Amino acid sequence: MKKALLVLLAVAMVFSVAACGNNAAPTNSEAPENTAGTADAVTYEGTYTEPLKMGTNAAFPPYEYKEGEEFCGIDVEIATAVAEELGTTLEVADMEFDSIITAVQQGEVSFGMAGMTVTDERKEEVNFTSSYATGVQVVIVTEDSAIATLDDLAGKKIGTQLGTTGDTYSKGDYGEENVTSYGKGADAVIALKGGDVDAVIIDNEPAKAFVAENEGLKILETEYAVEDYAIAVAKDNATLLSDLNKALEKLTADGTIDTIIAKYIKAE
Ligand code: ARG
Repeated sequence: MKKALLVLLAVAMVFSVAACGNNAAPTNSEAPENTAGTADAVTYEGTYTEPLKMGTNAAFPPYEYKEGEEFCGIDVEIATAVAEELGTTLEVADMEFDSIITAVQQGEVSFGMAGMTVTDERKEEVNFTSSYATGVQVVIVTEDSAIATLDDLAGKKIGTQLGTTGDTYSKGDYGEENVTSYGKGADAVIALKGGDVDAVIIDNEPAKAFVAENEGLKILETEYAVEDYAIAVAKDNATLLSDLNKALEKLTADGTIDTIIAKYIKAE
């Protein structure tokens, strides 16, 4: 009886995530076939009796965002598939981006997954799984902006999301006094529209989503930084790190991860 209930819950979880992004992201016919089930079974080290808790900042489409009360996005769906692979379910804990690493270190969440870039500084605080996606820091400006290159940003007002790589790098390159850090990327974009900042530096996929939602904005072609996204795990949790890596490897091999990414990011 209990087991049947658990299975029901697990299925409900998959269904609810499957409903995400339906209007925004038509399925890409180029997506590789999902051959899940044909791949060899993987043996995991840990036993996962509790749901896995993912710490994230669900204001970062298409990686994590909310549709009503539901958490959607590439990271949410990959994490759901990973949790299922480890025999459990996923719970999402939504928080400020710059709180995620501390939440991971203090064990408030099982792992952090938030389009999070692997950096040397962060590696001192947490361990990272192998990378499951690439991100590029880009520059958003208004359509009529005179800013055309990274050099043109010198002395201009830049908006970022607090604690992100775009925030740290631009403070280093253009001076802290020229950078305003917002709690959410979307708030930096509102500031750009309102003329409070001249440019926003943020990851390319959220940038595309924000530009699509807001008239009069464009993304510069110059890439500011190319980065790897990975899942952050507490330093003392080697078992989970190893199991997440094994699960990611399996879900990559069987096409699940590509299928999820293709659902949210249309091939150009
Ligand atoms: N990739 C950037 C970083 O790691 C930005 C990530 C922001 N993610 C989010 N869910 N708000 O710093």
